[in-house]
Amino acid sequence: MKENKFVVCITGASGVIYGIRLMEELSKVGKVYVVVSKNGYIVMEKEHKIKKTDFLKKYFNNPNIEIVSDRNIASKLASGSFLTNFKGVIIAPCSMSTLGAIANGVNYNLIHRISEVALKERVKLILLVREMPYSLIHIENMRKITLSGGIIAPASPSFYHYPTTVEDMVNFVVGKILDLIGIENNLYRRWNNRDEN
Ligand SMILES: Cc1cc2nc3c(=O)[nH]c(=O)nc-3n(C[C@H](O)[C@H](O)[C@H](O)COP(=O)(O)O)c2cc1C
Repeated sequence: MKENKFVVCITGASGVIYGIRLMEELSKVGKVYVVVSKNGYIVMEKEHKIKKTDFLKKYFNNPNIEIVSDRNIASKLASGSFLTNFKGVIIAPCSMSTLGAIANGVNYNLIHRISEVALKERVKLILLVREMPYSLIHIENMRKITLSGGIIAPASPSFYHYPTTVEDMVNFVVGKILDLIGIENNLYRRWNNRDEN
């Protein structure tokens, strides 16, 4: 039986805001473990001027959010027996480097190990990849993850819901991720064409 437990991993791709928004939304419905890579913290500071210490402080008192070091390879999250009843592991955003590590089964940090465990335990693994354009190496790595049961969900905001702010665009992407893990949400306006012609 799956429980409302999730892992959100933030890596050093552009769009750290997707991961932050996602962990905040998921913390309203369950327990969220958060792992930020070393480079994820660098991009967080570059894109949002949020320092690692401020990030840790902000969520310290939230009982539904537990932030785990990406160096803590002995974390319970690295174990199949702990992760097996989670509803999902989401890497948002996912860099091409992290994508490559997961696709090739190498573990340099806890994020890679959690993803490996999610794939072997058949826990839903979603990679919100961000790069443009893709090389064949990226595409092959995405193919391998897809064949292994993971979901490649590119950070591709749409325009059919008439976004007017960056927040609208972020909410669209985060809403689609919540849809993928079966969490009801109204973060974006769904397409409801009346087929008028
Ligand atoms: C401001 C900034 C933006 C970046 N954006 C991307 C990106 O969109 N996609 C990507 O694959 N790498 C991006 N990178 C490079 C990654 O941070 C780099 O490959 C790093 O090794 C990823 O490490 P990690 O996957 O362990 O977090 C960016 C780096 C910086 C400093």
